[in-house]
Amino acid sequence: MTNEFSKYLLSWYKKNGRDLPWRFKGGAHPNPYVVLVSELMLQQTTVKTVLSYFEKFMKRFPTIESLARASQEEVNLYWQGLGYYTRAKSLRQSAEMIVNDFNGIFPHQKEDVLKLKGFGPYTIASFLALAFNAPETVVDGNVVRIICRVYHLTSPTDEILPEIRRKAEALTDKKNSADYASAIMDLGATICTPKKPACSLCPVQKFCLSKDLPDLEKIPTRKKTTKKVFNGYIYIIKNKEGKVLIRKRTEKGLLSGLYEFPWSEERLFKNAKETNQSVTHIFTHINMNLKVCELKSDCACSDGFFVFPRDLDKYAFSTLMQKVIKKQVCFENHTC
Ligand code: ADE
Repeated sequence: MTNEFSKYLLSWYKKNGRDLPWRFKGGAHPNPYVVLVSELMLQQTTVKTVLSYFEKFMKRFPTIESLARASQEEVNLYWQGLGYYTRAKSLRQSAEMIVNDFNGIFPHQKEDVLKLKGFGPYTIASFLALAFNAPETVVDGNVVRIICRVYHLTSPTDEILPEIRRKAEALTDKKNSADYASAIMDLGATICTPKKPACSLCPVQKFCLSKDLPDLEKIPTRKKTTKKVFNGYIYIIKNKEGKVLIRKRTEKGLLSGLYEFPWSEERLFKNAKETNQSVTHIFTHINMNLKVCELKSDCACSDGFFVFPRDLDKYAFSTLMQKVIKKQVCFENHTC
């Protein structure tokens, strides 16, 4: 079925594949930089979200050299709201490595791509396939879902990943791996969707063992994991000038290098007033829920510094912190 499956899929893609700003139909993308930026943005982020960031980013950083020369602070600003900020750091560091260590020539070999930052097995395969048409198989969430459905694999995916990978590799058209990678991602995004898959429109329905089954939406199955809940406090500390206290997160770990308002699990400041506002955010492994507290103080505690609320947009904040800013608790003409 190998050749047949890819033949049907590729001919469907020719007519129905999405036109995306980072996409090149008909082989390798002529500009590997476009693939580098888009694939790092698309890790763990939907196409719809990336669409609103990609063009602004490319306008500001149109070449690998321009990105390599930029400061991390500025790159973070263009990444603000995309989440998973280590990717912004990896992207800039990779650009620097390509310019300095590879003389500006994008690596074609797996062992060289491995040296770049932020490249795991998925991104290595997608970069090499999309930028160079290298015979690599992309296995992302879409592909896992399609393979499990085509072969009616119902065990939890993390228990059968090697089997999924083997089957995905066997179906790949290695001579047209760039188009094949885009085609199978599009099939997963538009036809073989998690909910309400459109089997009647599917170009590879005749190969699918799960087609139209009543419990099709339940495939693939995953082990249940329970998310941790984190309840805490976030502090809007305002000084006499009307400035608010922010601090920079350390360069390592979650949301590294971004700015934030001080927050804590236990109440840090006894004289801080609780407001009736709170912010919540769902991270991969944690549901965070922070109660907003207001405090008047001129003390730049917690390694912070004071800035005028109108200057907050000069600093890159995580999505959670932007939710606080949007609420504008205590910023302008307010009680505190
Ligand atoms: N998800 C990850 N990479 C993608 C791509 N190049 N096109 C569409 N969706 C993707």
